[in-house]
Amino acid sequence: MARTSTAADVLVIGGGIIGLGVAWRAAQRGLGVTVVDPAPGGGAAQVAAGMLAPVTELQYGEEPLLRLGVASNERYAAFAAELTELTGLDTGYRQTGTLAVALDSDDREELRELHAFHQRLGLASHWLTGREARKLEPMLAPGVRGGLHVTDDHQVDGRRLATALLAACTAAGVELRRTEAVELLVTDGRASGVRLADGDELGAGQLVLAGGCRSHLLPGLPEGVLPPIRPVKGQVLRLRIPPAYGPFLSRNVRAVVRGQHIYLVPRADGELVIGATSEEQGFDTTVTAGGVYELLRDAHELVPGLTELPLVETGAGLRPGSPDNAPVLGPTTLPGLLAATGHYRNGVLLTPVTADLIAEQLATGRTPDLALPFSPDRFSPKAAA
Ligand code: GLY
Repeated sequence: MARTSTAADVLVIGGGIIGLGVAWRAAQRGLGVTVVDPAPGGGAAQVAAGMLAPVTELQYGEEPLLRLGVASNERYAAFAAELTELTGLDTGYRQTGTLAVALDSDDREELRELHAFHQRLGLASHWLTGREARKLEPMLAPGVRGGLHVTDDHQVDGRRLATALLAACTAAGVELRRTEAVELLVTDGRASGVRLADGDELGAGQLVLAGGCRSHLLPGLPEGVLPPIRPVKGQVLRLRIPPAYGPFLSRNVRAVVRGQHIYLVPRADGELVIGATSEEQGFDTTVTAGGVYELLRDAHELVPGLTELPLVETGAGLRPGSPDNAPVLGPTTLPGLLAATGHYRNGVLLTPVTADLIAEQLATGRTPDLALPFSPDRFSPKAAA
């Protein structure tokens, strides 16, 4: 027989960094919060490189996403400092800036266009010749033809961030249920709780679905409430810069090589993260020889000296992509159910702003202006009509 535990004010389904961020901020607003996840702190942040790049990853036509990304980037320093102050844990947040470089004249033209777009939008982005780029980063290949120095795109360590968020949640009184939510419960047309894998039923006044690319698969979720969230696989490598090596890279370095994004994120602790492939093939997290080969080949074109470094880890994670690749944030058409998912390539970047916006919605019932373009009902048949 099902046992119903005491109802929480807020139940967060999914304890990745998005779910934990929301839970922490909601608890800080005085709400009683429970997070359901078999392994809280896991998910895509365990693989992600943690580059905070709203400017260098800007795509044409994505200005609302840029505003959200910039808003989150601007909150990061305070968000990371608050986590460290509360938990004593370092998040690996570093204000390094990012250098996007071009390896041939076509890349250079593309980067020039991106620079012009940045300038039209008033973003901090400075054009460098190849020589100037190599002066900033002497390990770059001699063939680098030019670059963009984006001084506000920084980095954080997703693993350290997840650990700090988990500790902050615990300190704020968030209850963690380390099990799976196997069914969404709906009572009188309102989301009212979940059934857990251990048979318990957990009630809540409001629920937040933060299950990454599995969000729309929760049994009991009425059709059309959430769009499909597709998994987009990213393979990532971790190298180690031995202390004796001296300075290797001082900032994030990225390029588009043969149409694929490649980026290198050097951490303060000597880790050098190389990412990432982008593969749409379902729930597969196999690390493949081809994926590792392509990452090393492209990274080597950018920074030839990295082949000397120890390769210490390979991994693959799944980015949660909505149909328009923008996040799905806020109240759904099912009363009582909010979404915080679909962050695609930007989950680490968008954690602070998502946590703030969803906590505000939970506490006040109002949708903050920044969240309006990302409402789940943009995918409802009525919105399309
Ligand atoms: N934001 C980097 C990636 O998704 O690979």
